[in-house]
Amino acid sequence: MEKIKIILTGESGVGKTCIINQYVNQRFDSAYLTTIGTDKYLKEITIKAKILKLEIWDTAGQERFRSVNTIFMKNSQIAILVYDITDKDSFKNLNYWYETIKDNNKEKVLYCVVGNKNDRYEERNVEEEEGKKFAKDNNMLFFESSAMDFESIEKIFIGASEKYVEEKEKEKELKAKNEKERKEKEKEKEKEKEKEKNINLNDEKNKKNNDNDNKKTGCC
Ligand code: GTP
Repeated sequence: MEKIKIILTGESGVGKTCIINQYVNQRFDSAYLTTIGTDKYLKEITIKAKILKLEIWDTAGQERFRSVNTIFMKNSQIAILVYDITDKDSFKNLNYWYETIKDNNKEKVLYCVVGNKNDRYEERNVEEEEGKKFAKDNNMLFFESSAMDFESIEKIFIGASEKYVEEKEKEKELKAKNEKERKEKEKEKEKEKEKEKNINLNDEKNKKNNDNDNKKTGCC
């Protein structure tokens, strides 16, 4: 079973814990208990007949945990950058979270931007288009959600996992194609070498025959 490490980051209070809690336990809690450090949750899903074990990491947005959190950001395959659509600063700070994930991962990471709390649309301070533009400019997936609404939350995790599997398959196909081409080139080279060897052998044979002919001519 393939394991995928998903990390949620973003400013304190944007709803990271609630998003995970809704996805894993189908529950929404209106009480705010700030995350201390990092928590890990597990969920299995099936994508394209493949069972995937999602390892979902909830990180604290509070400043005092930032340096410790970077340890848990390493080896992430999917990063979900969350902002609150009613809080412009949480959107402006996405770049900070993006850079932090980038700095702590050597391998390629699939990024998603999530504008959360869209049930509070009357207090909206970040337009959906702004979120979409940020995502597009940085080659990321984009979702808006409400941690109160399971469907909107499920879409994030399913959408990101599908994209991840799709990209992995493409990478695999490309690798196989390159390997096939490499082997064909090698075969071609071998053939060329064989041809050259035969030409050299024939040249030598012809030379010997000519020498023999010359000898014969000389004797008579
Ligand atoms: P830190 O742990 O401090 O980094 O915060 P967090 O990003 O994990 O936020 P958390 O999930 O704890 O949510 C903070 C507050 O926002 C809580 O009071 C939640 O009930 C509320 N909240 C989270 N998501 C939503 C949402 O989609 N809609 C509404 N209306 N409230 C939400």
